[in-house]
Amino acid sequence: MSQLISFVLDGKVETIDFHVSRFTPTTTVLQFLRNHPRHKGVKEGCAEGDCGACTVVLGELAPNGKVRYRAVDSCLVFLPMVHGKQLITVENLKDSNGTLHAVQKAMIETDGSQCGYCTPGFIMSLFALYREAATIDRAAIDDALTGNLCRCTGYRPIVEAAAKSCSSNRTDHISASEAKTKRLLKSIPVKAVLMQTPMQSYYLPETIQEALDYKKSNPSTTVITGGTDVALRVTKQHEHLSNILDLSHVDELRTVRKGGELQIGASTPLTDVLDVAKDRLPALCSMLSVFGSRQIRNCATLGGNLGSASPIGDSIPVLMAYDARVVLQSTAGSREIAVREFITGYRKTVCKEDELITQIIFPAVSDKANIKAYKISKRKDLDISTLNGGFRLELDDEQGVKDIVLAFGGMAAQVQRASGTEAFLKGKEWIRENIEEAMRHLDKEFSPLSDVRGSATFRRVAARNLLLKFWVDTANSIPVELAKV
Ligand SMILES: Cc1cc2nc3c(=O)[nH]c(=O)nc-3n(C[C@H](O)[C@H](O)[C@H](O)COP(=O)(O)OP(=O)(O)OC[C@H]3O[C@@H](n4cnc5c(N)ncnc54)[C@H](O)[C@@H]3O)c2cc1C
Ligand code: FES
Ligand code: FES
Repeated sequence: MSQLISFVLDGKVETIDFHVSRFTPTTTVLQFLRNHPRHKGVKEGCAEGDCGACTVVLGELAPNGKVRYRAVDSCLVFLPMVHGKQLITVENLKDSNGTLHAVQKAMIETDGSQCGYCTPGFIMSLFALYREAATIDRAAIDDALTGNLCRCTGYRPIVEAAAKSCSSNRTDHISASEAKTKRLLKSIPVKAVLMQTPMQSYYLPETIQEALDYKKSNPSTTVITGGTDVALRVTKQHEHLSNILDLSHVDELRTVRKGGELQIGASTPLTDVLDVAKDRLPALCSMLSVFGSRQIRNCATLGGNLGSASPIGDSIPVLMAYDARVVLQSTAGSREIAVREFITGYRKTVCKEDELITQIIFPAVSDKANIKAYKISKRKDLDISTLNGGFRLELDDEQGVKDIVLAFGGMAAQVQRASGTEAFLKGKEWIRENIEEAMRHLDKEFSPLSDVRGSATFRRVAARNLLLKFWVDTANSIPVELAKV
């Protein structure tokens, strides 16, 4: 089995053999670049995905045969994750004559930089926008920049630079050399890689079967997919991860199947999930659009959000509202379990030692079901939830509640449904008087904690008000006389 990783950098294939390299498999791409004589433009700000100073762009062969470019936070990406990809840094943007890229020129012309610390990260986010965006408008620009912090220049000139450069004919020397890049990417063998050093084993399988076999023989291995949770254990807590199973290269886990039910591979990056959700799952779409930043969503996955089983995991309440199911697979076979039964406690799930999450299945949603997702955080973008909710309502012909799901995150040690309040509302008319009564029930169901994000009292009030907001949002879609506003 191969022990080497290879990726395209500076127009050629770079190979790392961890036996002889001074880097380890959990060296981040940021650390690698900061040690590289020609790639010190990338900066370290926070080392936890919050500032974007370390943004680089990864190019990979897409199923349509083109190279797809994604901005990522290099401080959260372990070196083996770039195997088989093109790594593009700010040094690669000028052409061979030294002419700056359109986004670099625009940043100069609009005075988009003062101290310059954040600038390489902004440039790389703008470059990804330049290469990938279907349309350039203020929403697309804001979305591309939410993962980048600037403390001195301010955003107006940077937004102006984005509009100025990306609105023109978007060709550059990167697109001109795409054929060569594809040749180089295809020259890297697509097969499993096992990196073993005296201190560490890091396995990068290509198929589900290889991943399951490894999990069976290494039950305590640390599974990673996007790594946006696990990388922090290394970069922030300085934990040594001795055995890692990295699912990011298993294409079968990144496939989406659209039928009556929608099946989303557990390793599908959230940016791709968002694209699918736009048509079919609007509540999931609204939640994912305020999930981390573009850089985070380009790596993070639903499998990882479920695997973390965080009490404030943003996808979990909305998955419950959609009545989604998790597919767990081992070498012995597979089983399906409803998301509401998947999580059993604080960061605990029913996933067995030899199992992996392979898919998330969304059943077809009835036309009569109204599903909404809400996130309460201190900032709209790039912030974790103080409280979140995924709610579903189905009314009968008399406007009585036929089916209701009220799933809350941030109110208990795990994402939890307000089953007492749901039971109270079942069969009742969906009118304000009943909602106000339900809000009093809700108050008794949870004993939230106080922490830096919000006090217990704040959480109780916010949870009650989310229920009221859900009523307002859904009552607006039923006749006013029935809603009795
Ligand atoms: C800057 C920043 C912002 C963030 N913002 C948000 C946010 O807004 N909302 C939010 O909910 N979270 C947020 N997160 C947390 C994180 O991005 C999410 O939890 C994400 O969904 C994790 O996915 P991942 O693929 O990166 O997981 P990983 O880090 O790869 O894994 C997470 C956990 O899941 C397990 N796991 C992963 N895949 C599988 C699998 N296939 N089978 C079994 N177990 C598996 C891993 O062992 C690990 O315990 C943020 C993180 C950062 C760093
Ligand atoms: S250094 Fe701040 S996001 Fe990576
Ligand atoms: S130019 Fe100084 S932080 Fe942005």
